Amino acid sequence: MTLLEQLAIKHAIFLAPMAGVSTPELAAEVSNQGAFGSLGLGSNTPETARQQILKTQSLTDQPFQVNFFCHQSKALNDQVAQQWIEYLTPQFQKYGTLPPKQLHNIYPSFLDNDDFLNVVLETKPKAVSFHFGIPHAHQIQALKKAGILTMVSATNLAEAKAIEAAGIDIIIAQGIEAGGHRGIFNESFDSSIKTADLVQLLKQHTQLPIIAAGGIMSGQHAKVLLDLGADAVQLGTAFVQCKTSNANTAYRQALFNQPITQITASISGRPARGLINHWHMQIDTPNRPPVATYPYCYDLAKQLNAIASKQGDYGFGAFWAGSNVAEIREMTAPDLINQLVLEMNMH
Ligand SMILES: Cc1cc2nc3c(=O)[nH]c(=O)nc-3n(C[C@H](O)[C@H](O)[C@H](O)COP(=O)(O)O)c2cc1C
Repeated sequence: MTLLEQLAIKHAIFLAPMAGVSTPELAAEVSNQGAFGSLGLGSNTPETARQQILKTQSLTDQPFQVNFFCHQSKALNDQVAQQWIEYLTPQFQKYGTLPPKQLHNIYPSFLDNDDFLNVVLETKPKAVSFHFGIPHAHQIQALKKAGILTMVSATNLAEAKAIEAAGIDIIIAQGIEAGGHRGIFNESFDSSIKTADLVQLLKQHTQLPIIAAGGIMSGQHAKVLLDLGADAVQLGTAFVQCKTSNANTAYRQALFNQPITQITASISGRPARGLINHWHMQIDTPNRPPVATYPYCYDLAKQLNAIASKQGDYGFGAFWAGSNVAEIREMTAPDLINQLVLEMNMH
C-alpha cells in the first residue's frame, strides 16, 4: 500500500501542525481538498485538545493528524531562570512594568502522563505526530492497537534510526529551513541538515515513509523533494497567511514586510526559526546569559509580548517562519492546495 492509500488522501501534501496557528477550520479545509490537514495541539490542555479534534471532525469526514510535544520535561534551574528574568527586566521596564518573579511550565509533555494519549484514543484521528522526541513504548502500543498511525520528526540520521527502532510508522524529515521549533531531541545539538539532503539520507538508511518538511513554498519545490524520494511534503509557513489560520494581523504583516528569518532559543528556551525581530536584534547579544529551561522561558516571552503588544510594539511576537518565507502567497487554503497540485504536475 502506498502512503497516500494508507492515509486515505489524494494529494501528497501535509499541512504542518502549528501550535497557536492551527485551527479546526484550516485543518478541515485542507483535508476537504484532498490533502492531509492537521492540528498542532502542543500548547493545549487535554480538554481544549479534545474540543479542537471534535470541532475538526464536525467540519470534515476526511482524515487529518494531530500533533503533540514529546520533550523530556526538565525541572526549572532556578539560578538560570532568575538570571534570565533579571536580563529581561529592562525590557519589561520599557513598558512600565516588571517581569514575573516565577516562571511556569506552560506546555506539559505528552510523555508526562497519559492524559493527551487518552484524548487521542477516544477521538481516533487518522494519525498523530510528535515533535522533540518519541512517545513511551506503552503509548506507541496503545496507538497501534487503536489503528492510529504514528509519525515523529527527525532532523538527523540518529533520531531517524531511533524513531524506526521504536516502531513508529512515518518519519518527518525536518530540514534546517523549517519554520518553528527545531524537532531536535536534545536541544543542545543540531546537525542543521538541509531538507533535500536529509530526505536523501533518511531514504537511503531507513525503511519508513519520509515526509519532507522545511522551506517548501511552491509545488515546483515540492516536486523536487518528491523526486528525491520523499513520500509527501509538509508545509507550514505557506499556510500561515490563509484566512482560516490563527495568525494575528501583526504576524501577517510581518510575514510580508520583514521576510528574513533566524533561529533563536531566546523565545521559548529551545531553538526555533522565526522572523527577525527584537528577540534576535536586542536579546541575542553576544553577552546574553543562558536561556531559561523550555518551556518556562516561553512563559516569560509570552508575557513580555502581551505587554509590548498592548502598547503597539509587536517586536516580541513569536512569528515562526521558514527560511523561504519571502515566497509566501496570500491565498485561501483550498486555492493554495489547488495551486500546489498544479505546480507539482508541471513539467
Ligand atoms: C507557525 C509554526 C508553528 C509550528 N508549530 C509546530 C508544532 O506545533 N508542532 C510541530 O511538530 N511542528 C511545528 N512547526 C514546524 C512544522 O511542523 C514544519 O516543520 C515547518 O513548518 C516546515 O517548514 P516551513 O515552515 O518552511 O514549511 C511549526 C511551524 C510554524 C511555521
